[in-house]
Amino acid sequence: MEFFQAVRERQSIRAFKPLPIEPEKLDALFEAVNRAPSAGNLQAFEVVLVEEAENKERLARACFQQAFLAEAPLVLVFFANPERSTPKYGERGELYALQDATIAAAYTQLVAQALGLGSAWVGAFEEQEVREVLQCPAEWIPVCVIPLGHANEKPFHTDRRIAEELFHRWGL
Ligand SMILES: Cc1cc2nc3c(=O)[nH]c(=O)nc-3n(C[C@H](O)[C@H](O)[C@H](O)COP(=O)(O)O)c2cc1C
Repeated sequence: MEFFQAVRERQSIRAFKPLPIEPEKLDALFEAVNRAPSAGNLQAFEVVLVEEAENKERLARACFQQAFLAEAPLVLVFFANPERSTPKYGERGELYALQDATIAAAYTQLVAQALGLGSAWVGAFEEQEVREVLQCPAEWIPVCVIPLGHANEKPFHTDRRIAEELFHRWGL
């Protein structure tokens, strides 16, 4: 899919067909997301893949009962890992790790769209509960949860602010 078409047509998908994701699509996604920029190229983030039904259900509960998560064949959980960035950047490295994870997750949604897959950004969750479900280190900070799969709904088109209101020309 053409780049601008992918950007234009991406919308949150919250219903998924009970179909697996083609392995070659997943490989293409991993490779493209791995090209995301990061502070000092330290890639201070981690991504956990959740595929097993019971784990997806537990994760959905940790996301305040967002049950649609468990419908997706694959759920990706993005974590900031400040331990990779604070040795170089000190306290600022904590912010960089959050930004690294966020950028990679945004890439994921666009790459998924380009591959004909649907996704949604889920930011509402109990941080500690997500860590417990996935048994990950206490230092990792969950940033977002992204269910991924073949869409089973026609997405709702969401409007945006007008660009002139969003972009502020300075000094004119
Ligand atoms: C930081 C953030 C948190 C979000 N949290 C949730 C969430 O918990 N559950 C959900 O269904 N959608 C969530 N969304 C998706 C937004 O509702 C959605 O992106 C927005 O309404 C625009 O719609 P679109 O993605 O279809 O363009 C979140 C998006 C962002 C960026």
